[in-house]
Amino acid sequence: MENVIDQPLALLGGPRAVTLAASRLEAACHWPIVGEEDERAVIDVMRAGTFSALDVTRRFEAEMARWHGVSHALGTCNGATAAQQAMWAAGLGKGDEIICPSIAYWASALPAFALRATVVFADIDPESLCLDPRDIEHRIGPRTKAIMAVHYRGHPCDMDAILAVARRHRLKVIEDISHAVGAMYKSRKVGALGDVAVMSLAGGKSLAAGEAGMMLTDNRELYERAMAFGAYERTKDELSTDYLVRAAGLPQGGIMGRMNQTCAAMGRAQLKHYPARMAEIHRAMSRFWDMLRHVPGIVPHRPSPSRYPDTTMGGWTEPLAHYVPTELSGLPAARFVEALAAEGIPPCRGVSFPLHLHPLLNETDIYREGRPTRIASATRDVRQPRGSLPVSERIAEQTLGVPGFKHDDPELIAQCAAAIRKVAVQAEHLLQSQIVESSARS
Ligand SMILES: Cc1ncc(COP(=O)(O)O)c(C=O)c1O
Repeated sequence: MENVIDQPLALLGGPRAVTLAASRLEAACHWPIVGEEDERAVIDVMRAGTFSALDVTRRFEAEMARWHGVSHALGTCNGATAAQQAMWAAGLGKGDEIICPSIAYWASALPAFALRATVVFADIDPESLCLDPRDIEHRIGPRTKAIMAVHYRGHPCDMDAILAVARRHRLKVIEDISHAVGAMYKSRKVGALGDVAVMSLAGGKSLAAGEAGMMLTDNRELYERAMAFGAYERTKDELSTDYLVRAAGLPQGGIMGRMNQTCAAMGRAQLKHYPARMAEIHRAMSRFWDMLRHVPGIVPHRPSPSRYPDTTMGGWTEPLAHYVPTELSGLPAARFVEALAAEGIPPCRGVSFPLHLHPLLNETDIYREGRPTRIASATRDVRQPRGSLPVSERIAEQTLGVPGFKHDDPELIAQCAAAIRKVAVQAEHLLQSQIVESSARS
């Protein structure tokens, strides 16, 4: 392997470190893994024509609740709907605030707007890339109702610290486990740690069931409130909370949140194999990271045992590396990615754009109220300018997407690790060549 890393970089005309066919890398990273069992289950629903019934969904919900160790699960048509139902269930209404990470998919935050509530972002922890518990308390105001803890890219949040803040201020904690189904936080499964959990079960998520979502909770009232919001057809039989029963028969959210049963069928088949598939992902990703030990500038995004004992990644479908430019002669992450692509590793998904800088969060008047929606119903101006969340704002330059291996293919993993090592050890040379190139051009 040593000779591979000493060869000239492919970007500068040398041979590629990954010599196996691109299709092998694609196959090793393909997700979800769909087999005959999924196909049969989906076809059964199609043939029965029971897309909009509830029997298969109820079975899936019961299995998910049992697997997570909670009493209630409510299937939804997607993760954004599960988030909206959970926010409303948690008490968010006009003028209320929810604290969210800015580095997250929009659905962990934006459903608040449709409830006439608003979002306050807290910064992320540079190691976990999840909500930083030390940055939450000073952002809590009199109208704060909840905290959205997103287990970002499979890494569990520091739930003990987040829950401690929440309990001190009587806030509800919503976990978003879309990226991290099955992750363990200090020996406890994520999704059962806060007051309520939501997840997307869409195509590329950790547990993929087509286009669906789910909410989990141990709290009967939260479960019934979520049901009252968007699962009207269940409300006649299943509600027991007096003030909710009065409005049974129509959805209080005015939405249809029901899961399509083809998705429930696929979800059941996926869940059966999930632990074994996750174990293989862990084997493959651990092999990959072990091969990159001591490579300058590249650090795995995964829980460090000293800070997070008995904690594991979940899902891990789109893994990240921390990128330390100071150990790589200041080489920008984008140039590193370019060099990796030339070596045979196409760019992998990096972190998301910081939500607090997007115009929708600062200027857009969605409901024609004469003010940006972010502050239209708020009791204070909660907009956060550039500079207010420094870690979130710089994290794109300090992280890289890396291949998400779903199969333990030692030869392929070794070649990919060698490609990363090769670019890292030649970072200074790469930077110099760029300087020479640009001065020759000018
Ligand atoms: C963390 C997170 N939460 C929620 C969602 C929303 O899920 P859906 O696309 O199923 O609405 C996503 C989707 O990407 C997500 O990544």
